[in-house]
Amino acid sequence: MISLRQLQNRNILLGVTGGIAAYKSAELVRQLCQAGATVRVVMTEAAQQFIAPLTFQALSGNPVSTTLLDPQAEAGMGHIELARWADLVLVAPATADFIARHAAGRADDLLSAICRATAAPQLIAPAMNQQMWRNPATQENVARLQQQGVMLSGPESGSQACGEVGPGRMVEPAQLVEQVAAQFQSGLLQGVRVLITAGPTREPIDPVRFLSNRSSGKMGFAIAQAAVEAGAEVTLVAGPVALETPDHLRRIDVESGQEMAEVVVQEVAETALFIATAAVADYRPLEVAAEKIKKGSDERVLRLIRNRDILAEVAARPSPPYTVGFAAETEKLREYAQQKLVDKKVDMIAANRVGEAGTGFDADDNALILFWADGERSLQRKSKRQLARELMAEIAQQISKR
Ligand code: CTP
Repeated sequence: MISLRQLQNRNILLGVTGGIAAYKSAELVRQLCQAGATVRVVMTEAAQQFIAPLTFQALSGNPVSTTLLDPQAEAGMGHIELARWADLVLVAPATADFIARHAAGRADDLLSAICRATAAPQLIAPAMNQQMWRNPATQENVARLQQQGVMLSGPESGSQACGEVGPGRMVEPAQLVEQVAAQFQSGLLQGVRVLITAGPTREPIDPVRFLSNRSSGKMGFAIAQAAVEAGAEVTLVAGPVALETPDHLRRIDVESGQEMAEVVVQEVAETALFIATAAVADYRPLEVAAEKIKKGSDERVLRLIRNRDILAEVAARPSPPYTVGFAAETEKLREYAQQKLVDKKVDMIAANRVGEAGTGFDADDNALILFWADGERSLQRKSKRQLARELMAEIAQQISKR
């Protein structure tokens, strides 16, 4: 059974070429978007004879790209950006001519150029007259594309728009959506229960004041999302963050480190994997004033007391889940991270350097070095979303070794 939830937040580049089946691609865009994918449509010139770009723009909510050498388009999302942006390139319908051009390695229109420039998987859904499909040249081109790793969906047999009967009908949108979703179904953590903490905590001083930190929760949320994509059953315990809840997981909101610790203790029993991304305050005010503290003398002392170390507590349980901790360091990254691995007795530490522009707290990018008892791996700087997927893959591999 394919779960469409794998499509959540995936970037799908849909190429539409000039065949009568192009009208079905409108429904395809609708279904992909409904499943949570972000869709950008690229149309060939011939496709625009069958259906207007405006239809796809309205359905996808994104501009439609049609030309390779349009200075305006290239200044925004040009062919290279589109090729990089795509998590998967789907061409539906794919005409005999497009297949021939693709197989020949052409790059003289936008869609062919993207097919050349992308590293993303490609899935094509041919649609054409049955004789054109059976034609040896077409068959050779299809075989060549398949050899290059391009995936094929269909065509199906049946009555055709041209009045003939035979193979050449485009696969129905619902089935194509499932096939696209299947591409993202890693199943690495299928059915595994995962508990994740994320965001900062707020340690109250009085009813209106608190101590907190700069954590945005973005990395933790990206990891939660990646765990969902890997098939896990995810519970996300979040401090105060301004982030939308990813689909298909359970989110529990907390404020203070103590609240977070209590929720984690309640939830951890059945958990196979615990990932602590939260920036839990190490200390909280010893006393919380019942009323707002009024100003007084020039100096004031705030007495702090240590908060429970949630990660260390989980790792110290009699039969702990696989535990992953985070370490944000400004210096001696390796030394401190490896120290944490030992001190807290966790299975993996994901360490990142903070204070570098564009990465770390509140940034969209990050880079990590993963340390475990007898190994390490560097994950280069990239979007937190992409990084989270790589992290989940490594965690799944480490768990499978146990
Ligand atoms: N952590 C936790 N509970 C706490 C404190 C930290 O679960 N009360 C977890 C964090 O989620 C993170 C890791 O422990 O996974 C961070 O370790 P920690 O030693 O607290 O990091 P720093 O506070 O940055 O370390 P230090 O004070 O030693 O610089």
